[in-house]
Amino acid sequence: MDDVVFRSPRKRGRIAVFLSGRGSNFMAIREAVERGDIDAEVGLVLSNKPDAPGLVQARAWGLETLFLDPKLFATREDYDRAVVRELEGRRVDLVCLAGYMRVLTPGLCQAYEHRIVNIHPALLPSFPGLHVQRKAIDWGVRFSGCTVHFVAAEVDMGPIILQAVVPVLQDDTEETLAARILVEEHKIYPEAVGLYFAGRLEVRGRRVFILEPGA
Ligand code: GAR
Repeated sequence: MDDVVFRSPRKRGRIAVFLSGRGSNFMAIREAVERGDIDAEVGLVLSNKPDAPGLVQARAWGLETLFLDPKLFATREDYDRAVVRELEGRRVDLVCLAGYMRVLTPGLCQAYEHRIVNIHPALLPSFPGLHVQRKAIDWGVRFSGCTVHFVAAEVDMGPIILQAVVPVLQDDTEETLAARILVEEHKIYPEAVGLYFAGRLEVRGRRVFILEPGA
């Protein structure tokens, strides 16, 4: 068996959510925090879009928000260096990408290795990238779903934490399949973040082991 390369901390943590749009996964995570299912607080909601509905909602809830304007930075590396400074300044333990439509630079991925997680609306490693519900329908796969994974420098790669499966129906459109997948996203994303701060995630090689409570 591969050596343990990471074990998630058992602690009350501080989460930063990065989003670019609707923010329904952010809302699901926040609800789980409010219920006490995740031992953490949402310390920051960051967006590259000033009017992202998720950011607007976070502001209305009185959470700390930050719009970081990509136009103010010459390169993606400069942008992500500023992101790292913001995270360090707020002592963020875990970044949850929730519909954040920017590819992270290797610098950010390395600075926060095993401290960034993402939700993707397909069963990775199938269908990375964009418009993946459309691609799943066009390929004729019978099942699709969603994946929560640690973020590595490659897009939509990194050790898989949880997945959920949904059937692809014959009369599905991109929208109906996306909606069916989203229901599962809202379950497994908060669950994965809860496991993280319960100290129950152990990474060995590419695999993530879910430890028994108290192990
Ligand atoms: C979600 O379906 C999420 O899986 C997807 O964007 C949507 C965001 O919705 N993310 C990706 O495609 C990342 N590759 P939300 O803003 O309502 O959470």
